Order: sequence, then structure tokens, then C-alpha cells
Amino acid sequence: MSLKKKPVQKKIPAKKEKVTKKPVSTKKHTPKKITQKPSVPPVTKKEVERLADEKKRKKLQLQPLRGMKDLHPRDAKYWRSAYRGAEQMAEAYNFHYMEVPMLEDLSLFLRSIGKGTDVIDKEMYAFDDRDGTKVGLRPEFTAGIARAYITHGMHSEPQPIKVWTTGSLFRHDRPQAGRYREFRQFGCETLGIRDAAIDAELIVVAYNYLKDLGIDTHVRINSIGSPEDRANYVIELTAYLRSKRSYLSENSKKRIQKNPLRVLDSKEPEDQRIIEEAPQIIDWLSDDSRKFFTRVLEYLDHLEIPYILDSTLVRGLDYYTDTVFELFRTDEEEGSQSALGGGGRYDLLIEELGGQHTPASGFAIGLDRVVLALKTLKENAKATAHAPKKMPIYVAQLGEQARQHALRLIEQLRKADIIVHHSVGKSSLKAQLEQANTLNVTHTLILGQKEVLDGTIIIRDMDSGIQEIIDQGKILREVGKLLK
Ligand code: HAM
Repeated sequence: MSLKKKPVQKKIPAKKEKVTKKPVSTKKHTPKKITQKPSVPPVTKKEVERLADEKKRKKLQLQPLRGMKDLHPRDAKYWRSAYRGAEQMAEAYNFHYMEVPMLEDLSLFLRSIGKGTDVIDKEMYAFDDRDGTKVGLRPEFTAGIARAYITHGMHSEPQPIKVWTTGSLFRHDRPQAGRYREFRQFGCETLGIRDAAIDAELIVVAYNYLKDLGIDTHVRINSIGSPEDRANYVIELTAYLRSKRSYLSENSKKRIQKNPLRVLDSKEPEDQRIIEEAPQIIDWLSDDSRKFFTRVLEYLDHLEIPYILDSTLVRGLDYYTDTVFELFRTDEEEGSQSALGGGGRYDLLIEELGGQHTPASGFAIGLDRVVLALKTLKENAKATAHAPKKMPIYVAQLGEQARQHALRLIEQLRKADIIVHHSVGKSSLKAQLEQANTLNVTHTLILGQKEVLDGTIIIRDMDSGIQEIIDQGKILREVGKLLK
């Protein structure tokens, strides 16, 4: 402690002020608020830019990501028509609804669709899952459905397995009209049987689905044969393209080495003449593939489906063998983005994924493009008008000609709102009648070679086994009476 004395401070006497008495206010005194402006630091140009950027970013966050969109309620009637039509058409042809996950092991897509394709090389949404697994958002359904066929041992169920599905798919493509990063498809797959009638049936389903919605289309079709046929053809095609290299677009020049078949897909004007004169894959088909393709075309002729043979149609996915097709609006110019749907046969995919040898075929329709088309039509939603009657009938056939007739008959019955069960992939009458029994139908229509020639058809009562022969012209009336 300091013992020093503190200096004493002298008090300065206060100045005497004149006191003027103020009248005392009776009001309650409220102290005035003192508002003092904070000193604002000068705003730099950089700061202004940063704030503007942030504002812009916040605004952007309220938009869907590029290439993705909300399905606005004002478009609901188009979307409902597209979905309802899909369900009605698929069920009328005995396809069963199934769904596969949106996210799968990335290797499934790599092995199915193939490296070197645009979908895999440029458009996959692929990333590491939290446990490090490489996963991918599905860019299409077929790979997932083929995987599910193996996973659930579906080969031990009665073949063919017929499934349909709808949902979102993802491709990191350059967005433009009708091309999005998230889009929706309606797809049908028939697995387990190699038969031209199955390819024809799938084309009929795709074609009539669009037709019922009021969208007129034509089918472009080709056969790309077996992998061996294709390998031989590619040698020839590559030699041809090399000889014309200097006339080709830059993109096509790059593709000669990497994927020469894709040059045939080019829409660049300078490539068109060269593509037209290119060797055609159809000349490289094996006997088996050629016969198969001819039969598919015969079915289409018989069913009066308008098609154009397109030797440049190769499709952008690696798993196809034999039949490939796409559907285009008849009233629109074709461009790479305007196919409403496409599909084909993929006889080797399931085996390549590790399953048993399982021939298969399928298609997918792009629903976003269907809705765009519906919006341009004055009158639509025909698809919603039909509600099939509840009682189903079975159509059985025996022999090649009968099968062709049967497909036409099925379409006739379906248009009359009758649920038709059938199996164009099954050739034995016994197997078909067994299936009719398990489906609990009351009657089966039977078409054989003789009936085709006579213009008649057999109606079999499934309970009593009694069969009646009627004129084919009277089918609708007779069936209508039976199912009342
Ligand atoms: P895809 O040709 O790749 O075939 O697609 C089928 C349809 O989906 C196209 O015709 C188009 O309408 C639509 N689509 C494709 N990409 C987009 C996109 N980025 N934006 C909007 N629509 C699009 C397949 O997906 C095969 N899985 C079809 C199949 C089934 N093959 C055998 N079974």
C-alpha cells in the first residue's frame, strides 16, 4: 500500500447563474429518443457486385435446375391423358405394371448401354454414394428391368414376361425443346421369347397408344442383325467413310474411328449425301436375321401399320440385336430430337448381365414429347374416353397365318373396349388354353389355319368346353352378347 498522501483537489466554485423560473408542466415527461445515425462505411464496387450476385443466386434457387421442369397444373389434362392412355393400352395387351429403382449400381448401365454411346459417355448422372459405391440415376428403364428379371429368377415363370412401366429418367443432355435432363417415359418390355410376332405386337402397342391420343405417327424400322453381322458391316462402313472423309462434318470425322455406326445418325447437312450412298446393313444380315426381319414386316403389313424402311437407323444404345424402330409424327419434320418413341430387340442383354440366355424386345415412348404433341392438337384426350368393359376374353391362335390374323382381331376387340388376353408368343394351343383357364376367362376365341382360310372362328366356352364355329364378320356381335 502506498503511504503517499493524495494531493487534495481544490473545488472550483460554480458560476452563479440567473435562475428564471419555468412554469411547471403537468404533462408526464417522456424523454426524447436520441437517434444517432451509425457511421456507414463507404460501399465498394466489389461489395455492390457481390450483393447483386447473391441476389441473383437466391432468385435462381427458386427455379428448377437446368433441363428440369415442374409439371404445371394447367397441363394436368395432357399428362393425365398420357398416363391413363398408357395404362389402358398396356393392360389391354396383358403387360403387368412394374417399377425399378431410380438409382442403380453404375456398372449396370455401363454394361447394358455401353461405353462409347452418348448416354454413357456424356449424359450419365453418376456419382459416389456415401459408402463409396459408384451409382447412376437411370437414363432408361431397360437395363433396370433386365436386372430385375435376373434378380427375381423370372426365367422360371411362364414365358414371356410382359411388363410396362412409367417414371422419370435422367440424361445430362443439352436442353432444348423436347429434350430435357429429367424426362418421363412409358415403356413396355416382353422378355423370354424370340418371335417376330412379339416385335410386331410391341410396335402395334406403341403406334396405337399414340393414335388413340390423336397423334398420327409412322414407324421407321431397320434390322441391325447379330453382333457378328454388325462387326462385318462395320468393317465395310468404316472403309467407305474413310474414303469420303474429306467431305464429312468434323463431328462425323471424329466418329469414324470411335463409333462409325453413329455417323449414320448424323443430322449435319454435309453428311447427308454420303450417308445416303453408304453400304446398307441389311445386305450384311445372316439368313436367320433376314428371315426374322421379313416376318416382322409381314406382320406390320397385315396390321396396316405405316412404316418406312430406314437403313440408317441404328439407335444410340449398344444392347440391340435385329429389329430396331422409332416412331415419328407424320405431320412434323424429323430431327434427332423429334422421335416420340423407339425400341427394339435385345436378345443378348440378359445373358451379358449374368442371366440365362433370354431373348427380349421392348420400346419406350417419351411422355414429355407426347404432351408437347397433345398441346398442339385441337382435339385430344380420346384416350380417356374408353373404359374397357370388365369381362375379359382370350384369343388363341395356331400357325403363322392365324397369328397374324389374331393380332388384327385383338386390335378390333380392344377398340370395341373389350379386355383381350392373349399370348402371341406361345405356339402350342394347349399352353394357351391353360393360360386362359388361369386367367378365369369365360370364353376363348380360337383361330387356326383352317379358320383363317374359311373366314370363321371357334368360340369355346371355358366351363363346358362346348365349341361353336361362327363367321369372322360376326365376332364383335357374338362376343358382345357373351360378355354382357
Ligand atoms: P430412347 O430412344 O433412348 O430409347 O428413348 C425413347 C424415347 O424417350 C425417345 O424417343 C424420346 O421420345 C424420349 N427421350 C429420350 N431422351 C429424352 C430427353 N432427353 N428428353 C425428352 N425425351 C427423351 C430407350 O430409352 C430404350 N430404353 C427403349 C427400349 C425399351 N428399347 C427396348 N426396350
